[in-house]
Amino acid sequence: MNFTQAMNQPEILLVDDTPEHIETAVMMLRESNFKVRIATKGSTAFKLIEQHPPDLILLDVYMPEMDGFDICRILKTESDFNYIPIIFLTSSNDAESIKKGFELGAQDYVVKPFNTSELLARVHTHIKLKKQTESLLKSNQELDSFCYTVAHDLKAPLLSLRKLTEYLALDYSTLLDNDGLELIDTIQQKSQEVVKLVDHLLELSRMSEMPMNIEPINLEQLFRKVYDELINLEPPRNVNLRINYIPFIQGDPVMIKLLVINILSNALKYTRIRKDACIDISSSENETEYIISVRDNGAGFDMRYASRLFSVFQRLHSQNEFEGSGVGLAIVQKILKRHHGLAWMTGKVDEGATFYFSLPKT
Ligand SMILES: Nc1ncnc2c1ncn2[C@@H]1O[C@H](COP(=O)(O)OP(=O)(O)OP(=O)(O)O)[C@@H](O)[C@H]1O
Ligand SMILES: [Mg+2]
Repeated sequence: MNFTQAMNQPEILLVDDTPEHIETAVMMLRESNFKVRIATKGSTAFKLIEQHPPDLILLDVYMPEMDGFDICRILKTESDFNYIPIIFLTSSNDAESIKKGFELGAQDYVVKPFNTSELLARVHTHIKLKKQTESLLKSNQELDSFCYTVAHDLKAPLLSLRKLTEYLALDYSTLLDNDGLELIDTIQQKSQEVVKLVDHLLELSRMSEMPMNIEPINLEQLFRKVYDELINLEPPRNVNLRINYIPFIQGDPVMIKLLVINILSNALKYTRIRKDACIDISSSENETEYIISVRDNGAGFDMRYASRLFSVFQRLHSQNEFEGSGVGLAIVQKILKRHHGLAWMTGKVDEGATFYFSLPKT
């Protein structure tokens, strides 16, 4: 085996305290070219994982001191190593353990005494899945940073173009006829639209990179504050805002404010066609999460295309009807993803729309 092959050799951590099982598993795995490290108790397993995270963990259920379930729970919920796949090693008649293992976040199980081809097939599958997930994550990061660089590099020339057109309008207005002045006006409007789009794209990239600072947030107060800020930017109009009880949530204040700005600015934008606009914000909860809804009586949308709403640049209304860059809901979704929440929307053409999002309680 050359150096590159050795470097790419997948590494497995076997956590088991029964010498015969260790011997059989190690033999099978090493024969198939896996690097194997062994821990016979929980504390050693954690030490080895910290030293060098393995590609996969084979975890015995019953061990003295700390059993496999405790190790799995800590790894999946309280550590930075929750991405490492875990395969539980159980005995054939242990349906309860298998169920518990899955509930705790394990990826799979293998029954003892081991069947060589079964153990190897499962190990190969989960290592392959882990590698594919890692490569997807890397591609996503590359795309994010590409998007950031493009947006960032476009902004400076765009701002100069806008400034130059302003000078043109100021210094040469007497030399231009009405058609010329109108053209300058259109160029200014369009460059304003592109600057907004670039700002939105920069915000989208920032939401992926920005470190999070989680604290309690008075969401009801935030909705009211953002609404006041947004309505003050609009020409006078009739909007009936009703907010039922909205709970405190845990989140990053900068990100959650941006989320509220995007949701409310949509509700305000798409109700602009109503003489009496209504926006109703309310909440519900279950054991694990809060669900917040923002309902409006605006233009609504066709539910057949609902799955597109959260993708960048996807718009269901034309620029002439409602201006926009189609990035707002992509930002919202990114923010919710980072908070382990979800977003979805319902609506009907000309009968309004409801935006929902969920956030975990802890
Ligand atoms: N409250 C709403 N009522 C009706 N349609 C909506 C509503 N909110 C979003 N949409 C639809 O979803 C699309 C995507 O929304 P998103 O907020 O991402 O983009 P946008 O509002 O068009 O532009 P911007 O990037 O400026 O927010 C919108 O173009 C619109 O078609
Ligand atoms: Mg929007």
